[in-house]
Amino acid sequence: MMASIAPTSETKCLLKLVVNDRAVSVAAPPVQRLSRVLREQLGLTGTKVGCDAGDCGACTVLLDGEPVCACLVAVGQVENHAITTVEGLKSRPPLFDRLQNAFLQHGAAQCGACTPGMLISATALLERNPSPCEREVMDALGGVLCRCTGYRKIINAVLDAAALDARSHSEASPAAGASVGQRLVRLDGKGKVNGTEIYGADEIPAGALGLRVIRCPLDRARFRFGDLDAFVAAHPGVEAILTSKDVPGEDCYGVIPRFADQPVFAHDEARHRGEAVAAIVGDAEVIESLDPASFPVGWEELPAIRSIDEALAPGARLIHPHRPENVLTGGRVVRGDVERALGEADAVVGGEFETGFVEHACIEPEAGFARRVGDQIEIQACTQSPYMDRADIAKLLGIPAEAVRIIPTAVGGGFGTKLDLSVQPFLALAAWRLRRPVRMVYSRVESMMCTTKRHPARMRCRAGATKDGRLLALDFAADFNTGAYSSWGPTVAARVPVHASGPYAVPHYRAVTRAVHTNIVPAGAFRGFGVPQMAIAQEQLYDDLAIRLGIDPLEFRILNALDNQTPTVTGQVMGEGVGIRACFEVLHPKWIAARAEAVKINAAARGPIRRGVGVAGMWYGCGNTSLPNPSTVRVGLKGDGRIALHQGAVDIGQGSNTVVAQICADALRAPVDCFDLISGDTSITPDCGKTSASRQTFVTGKAAQMAGKELRRSILRLANFREDAVIDFGESSLRMHEGGEQSKFSLQGLPLDQYGYVLTAEQTFDPPTSALDENGQGSPYAVYGFGAHMAEIAIDIELGTVSVLKIVAAHDVGRAINPTLIEGQIEGGVAQGLGMALMEEFFPGKGENLHDYLIPTAGDVPPVESILIEDPSWIGPFGAKGIGEQAVIPTAPAILNAIYHAAGVRLRRVPATPDRIREALLAHASRGQTGVARG
Ligand code: FES
Ligand code: FES
Repeated sequence: MMASIAPTSETKCLLKLVVNDRAVSVAAPPVQRLSRVLREQLGLTGTKVGCDAGDCGACTVLLDGEPVCACLVAVGQVENHAITTVEGLKSRPPLFDRLQNAFLQHGAAQCGACTPGMLISATALLERNPSPCEREVMDALGGVLCRCTGYRKIINAVLDAAALDARSHSEASPAAGASVGQRLVRLDGKGKVNGTEIYGADEIPAGALGLRVIRCPLDRARFRFGDLDAFVAAHPGVEAILTSKDVPGEDCYGVIPRFADQPVFAHDEARHRGEAVAAIVGDAEVIESLDPASFPVGWEELPAIRSIDEALAPGARLIHPHRPENVLTGGRVVRGDVERALGEADAVVGGEFETGFVEHACIEPEAGFARRVGDQIEIQACTQSPYMDRADIAKLLGIPAEAVRIIPTAVGGGFGTKLDLSVQPFLALAAWRLRRPVRMVYSRVESMMCTTKRHPARMRCRAGATKDGRLLALDFAADFNTGAYSSWGPTVAARVPVHASGPYAVPHYRAVTRAVHTNIVPAGAFRGFGVPQMAIAQEQLYDDLAIRLGIDPLEFRILNALDNQTPTVTGQVMGEGVGIRACFEVLHPKWIAARAEAVKINAAARGPIRRGVGVAGMWYGCGNTSLPNPSTVRVGLKGDGRIALHQGAVDIGQGSNTVVAQICADALRAPVDCFDLISGDTSITPDCGKTSASRQTFVTGKAAQMAGKELRRSILRLANFREDAVIDFGESSLRMHEGGEQSKFSLQGLPLDQYGYVLTAEQTFDPPTSALDENGQGSPYAVYGFGAHMAEIAIDIELGTVSVLKIVAAHDVGRAINPTLIEGQIEGGVAQGLGMALMEEFFPGKGENLHDYLIPTAGDVPPVESILIEDPSWIGPFGAKGIGEQAVIPTAPAILNAIYHAAGVRLRRVPATPDRIREALLAHASRGQTGVARG
């Protein structure tokens, strides 16, 4: 592998390249990265940059027909060589048409950040081998990381490319009123597969300044600036240095206003490694070439609190003086009499479980630009929460919210981390003050160093059951390391106690949680808000309980599964839509067969490989926990007969742009291809809340359904037709059909409303929930999603390595609005759950790159069989529930239970890396136990 290239200020040369079959000349230092020249000089931003280190493959291009990482290639090395980027693949029809179409049909592009690299790698493969086998495809794609899809749809798309014809995907648009339930191709998919989608780093406004943040290199430090004016004077091109003194408004932000505690720049003392203390703004090239070590700041290292134990130790220094015992906040749900029930139980099991930091590893690092337009600040950046960003930026600048415009770009993976502000405050402050556009892109190291992580958890629990297998009680306590600032710590602390029972009837229950401050980078939202960590403990514990009782683990779960009439641990009775038993039952025949097969294989095993099969269940409340959670959708009939759908749900790859349109289309009874999507921009789109907590299909989808129905009613009223009339949306006219009669209604010349539409409907939906009382009793969510995963694994009991062979994932989604997109969420969730179970752990200050921090590659993720259960929710649009978070939760515990089945060892600390498994196996052996799968 070639070494990475340091930025250089070497003299520029005129270099001749052949890019996408066109001869071009560029003036660049010969050592400049090819990726940068392609993107910044030639405007070929289809080539993405995820790491600048050869680790992610996002920048893959063809060099004389061979795939290479353009970030590792010096432009001077490729003079007169042929370079092909994703934009140039169109000159390779019909192969590229087929590939593109296959990617769209399979839903192989979610966020799309990896897609150009995948397409280039696949093209190289198919050009030399038109009929590759699955292994050859996996090998060819092995250098490109994808964080969204779980790879299976990409692999299948490549395998199918030869078989598909090259028809445009848009020909398959469903008829009016028939979109829901269809495998509609992602409406925003085309830009993802042809390289035209605009992400945070893809636009550079003319004259944009660069910005570099100076960050604390220590876990905790006092700091003092030297002569900042002298630094500016000594560096021509540097326009300004920003520090905490330059924040004109209230210097305190955070995603939950009541807990907001984060300054843009630390004041005198930095509370974690990577915390910003200053920013240098100026000419982009000058800023880039600056040596940050030359910045005049002195650090005095202070004692840091790095662990939950240190933070909670009696007399520990307080990281935030107003938060006693370093506890940010806690959560509590109590029902029945846990101690008495455990005392009366026929079997009681207990254990302590621990999980580490997990990095989101979005392929797209945080990026964007800001500019001041009069007295308004505009920020174009990748974000999951434009309206929350707007509120915080307004507060920081001390200006009204209406003076802040957030324009979300496409988001190259979010998974929760892009709910928090990243580049936005720096850009806003700089552009506001300097009245020039300012742009910045986090490096991979910066992204990993200073953006949020999954909360590490330490969980202690006991569970008891009767001898016939009825769960009696669960006692659960968890501490979450929330890092130096609050971020989403309160949400994790509140959500986990509601969910720690799992999707089961547990009459006696106590769950208490704390979010604990340390001097570590803040932990935040990551797909599941603490529930995946919790499920690792609870689902392993229930497995232990079933085994202790001699009951089949799946049958134990079926026996205890929640139903429509059984109260949850918060006392909520759903009444309908509780599909967990169906999820378990659909796995049952596969479970029986797979368990028997594993036992047979293990009985005949000669070497160290053992097979195991595990299962785990999950439930997950959609939306905020007992808090308002509204989405507002506006839909307008345009004078040209098309429909404008203003929905602010940011599509981070999960597919809300498509799903919300499908729902609205069916409510309006219009074909989905009549719609023009207007997404996200806070100046033109109502607030649809944040993209998190599996709320967009449910909450925004419901608002879209209501708005669609309302617009339909308005149209029928305007045209004087009855409720069941059929409307054909034509060019500048509507054709109405009713009782065999037909008439045309012209839209031309009709007056337009304040939004510029002939008619507008706007509807808000806020899920009905209730506040929890002091014992956590109430209805925290209007809708829950349910699911169960079965994992088949092979373990090498000498090496401690685990291969996941297959996952069967059954999910109750209420109504599958778009089965392809749901499967994509499931497969992506499985991949992240697999990573969490077996390989992913982030150590702050170490391995802040995608070389040392391992995420699953194409070769790690097994086939996933998705089974969709449709037990409609009472209130979701067409009965739909969420799936985004749900998909990740059961995978890790199912794998860990499979490891136990195969080898008899219970992994209480994840990830279950080979060294930890090996240690557990040795301990197990020293106790004279053997690990063989039981029936
Ligand atoms: S950007 Fe080149 S490999 Fe990641
Ligand atoms: S679709 Fe592959 S990284 Fe998002």
